Amino acid sequence: MLTEFLDFLGSLHPLIVHLPIGIILLTIAIDVFMRNKNNSVYRVITMGWFFTFFTGLLAALFGWFLGDNGYYFESQINIHRWSGIALVSLSFIIWVLRYINFRFSKPFNRSLNLTTIILLMVTGHFGGEMTHGQNYLFENLPYIEKEISLVKLSEAKRSKADSLMVYEDLIHPILEEKCMACHNQNHAYGGLNMSAFESMVKGGNSGTGIKKGKPYESLIYKRVSFPHDHPKFMPPAGVPLSYDQIATLEWWIDNGAEKQIPVTSVRNDAKIQRMIEIQYGLDLKEKTFLETLKLASPSPEMLKSIQGEKYFFRYLNPEQSFMDLKFTKKEINTKDLINIQKVKKNIVWLNLMDCMLKDDHLGYLNDFPNLTRLKIQKNPLITNKGIEALKNLENLSELNLYGTRVSDAALITLGQIQSLKKLFLWNTRITPQAIADFKAQHPEIEIVAGL
Ligand code: HEC
Repeated sequence: MLTEFLDFLGSLHPLIVHLPIGIILLTIAIDVFMRNKNNSVYRVITMGWFFTFFTGLLAALFGWFLGDNGYYFESQINIHRWSGIALVSLSFIIWVLRYINFRFSKPFNRSLNLTTIILLMVTGHFGGEMTHGQNYLFENLPYIEKEISLVKLSEAKRSKADSLMVYEDLIHPILEEKCMACHNQNHAYGGLNMSAFESMVKGGNSGTGIKKGKPYESLIYKRVSFPHDHPKFMPPAGVPLSYDQIATLEWWIDNGAEKQIPVTSVRNDAKIQRMIEIQYGLDLKEKTFLETLKLASPSPEMLKSIQGEKYFFRYLNPEQSFMDLKFTKKEINTKDLINIQKVKKNIVWLNLMDCMLKDDHLGYLNDFPNLTRLKIQKNPLITNKGIEALKNLENLSELNLYGTRVSDAALITLGQIQSLKKLFLWNTRITPQAIADFKAQHPEIEIVAGL
């Protein structure tokens, strides 16, 4: 009952403060502008200082009740509180001195007026910051960027998006900036200490802070997603969480609220993924093998082996390290293959179509670590036996066997190539039934087998 009444008085503070402000300004104006002061003017000024003191005292008292509720930042309250008290005390002293007819010298009187105005501005400014938020004074100037959040990922963290954690790197910094001034070991308003993960999850006096999988039953989420003018909206002072930050928090709680969920797992939700990418300047798209591969370009020495009209090659990347190589003649021999082997690290695409390739030849290809695409179509001498050698191509994702003599058994070998994504089997001896079975077993592999 009493606390509610005090809270009510506290809420009158913003109203009452305008009385002493008006009275001070009027009193000082009379003092400054009425040059010839007779006795009554002198007494009006003295009275002005009295009412400044009296209404100021009321405002300070009510302000004290208001400041006690924990809805403001300590640091801001302190400056506002003590400059307010100084202002009330100063007006009291001035009133008493005038009342006992103490005559001020002109310069002294002027400096008292000036000090009062300065104190008034300081008090008013910090009071304004508490209710309207920091920067309220300048934020509408055209050349000022509106402060949305101080939370940004560092360049170093952004460059290794794959190792970022949702809680540690995205959510914790926001909560630290916007909540922990009031929810820590020393000030745990509402009984809620958010500085440690466990105590944040546990919550405060009125319930669980974070309920895994249930954002709408998690107090932390509920309080930040209330309408801004709701009495329980958090944070009660300062810049609120942005829409994106609230959505990220919701996604995290929805997905188990674990401390260690990698940021890349937001790939399960395209909207959140996009939102996080924009907000933090991240690229969370899944990288293909080639996007993660770093290679030096082949030396002139190595390139010598594939010069001449038998070979045609081009680079696939600006760094000139990924090669697409094609054998151009109608008949290949082992020497040609040994030449190609010299640049095997750099070859990512290899085209050996229609050149009388034999099963034995494929043995020369079994150690091409970065080969992702291999074309050996229209080589009717290739059988299941040759395919065996391709098992070791760890990064092979596309293989063209069109027009070779492979049969159903080759699929057993091909099924062992983990990286395989696309397979051309048109015009081979593989039966439609075997293809259907293979597709059922390897849904991730696309098969092109003709009409
Ligand atoms: C300026 C101080 C301040 C800041 C900043 C602040 N809070 Fe609070 N918070 C309080 C006070 C005071 C209470 C207790 C009164 C109430 O429940 O409204 C409270 C209560 C809560 C409660 C209820 C605890 C319980 O179990 O009763 C939650 C949840 C909460 N805050 C979450 C947050 C979150 C999340 C943020 C940051 C986005 C935040 N707060 C920022 C002052 C603050």
